[in-house]
Amino acid sequence: MTPDRLVVGISGASGVVYAMRALEALKTLGVESHVVASKAAEMTLSYEMGEKPSVLRESADVLYKQADVGAPIASGSFKTRGMLIAPCSVRTMSEIATGVTSSLLTRAADVVLKERRLLVLMVRETPFHLGHLRTMTQLAEMGAVIMPPLPAFYAHPKSVDDIVNQSVGRALDLFGLDWDGTKRWGEDLEQGRRPQARMGSRTE
Ligand SMILES: Cc1cc2nc3c(=O)[nH]c(=O)nc-3n(C[C@H](O)[C@H](O)[C@H](O)COP(=O)(O)O)c2cc1C
Repeated sequence: MTPDRLVVGISGASGVVYAMRALEALKTLGVESHVVASKAAEMTLSYEMGEKPSVLRESADVLYKQADVGAPIASGSFKTRGMLIAPCSVRTMSEIATGVTSSLLTRAADVVLKERRLLVLMVRETPFHLGHLRTMTQLAEMGAVIMPPLPAFYAHPKSVDDIVNQSVGRALDLFGLDWDGTKRWGEDLEQGRRPQARMGSRTE
């Protein structure tokens, strides 16, 4: 039987913590993580988390080199749930949109699209210019899900960790993965609950 696998791409936008949290979540969910990080991601790992690239070896089930375009995730015959790119830089998203993929990270994303699997891009930049918006539209038309990691204040985050967990959890939801770091309106959040749900019965 094919193991349950998700490809995780890490590019050099701000927010490498989203990737690290996603890898922790996948471990608790028992989903194999197949990870590839760009050179710029290694920089943000150092700037933003004070970590060395070697931390990825400990966090990933399988870690690939960015230049290894012959890796399993470069082929559609290697079955996965799809790919999450967290965070996704403008450079990486633009390369995916063109199809001119020069690294394993973007090749793996292209493969996911051609196999009609799910590609979720946590695009991180602000503000966007028209070219960025057009590129995101093009990617959405190609089947990718554009999911900037925007905080959900209805979940009443108390810390940066809470904010990160909610975005990571909502991204994993898209792959059908139910992680317990996610706060759900109508379930975990008291204000979102309907009185009849609180009583455990439906009256409508
Ligand atoms: C600390 C830091 C933060 C950055 N934040 C962003 C960002 O939020 N979004 C973005 O598109 N690029 C950002 N960049 C620039 C990218 O790292 C740069 O464009 C790089 O070439 C992206 O390469 P990659 O897509 O191969 O990772 C940042 C760079 C550094 C060093």
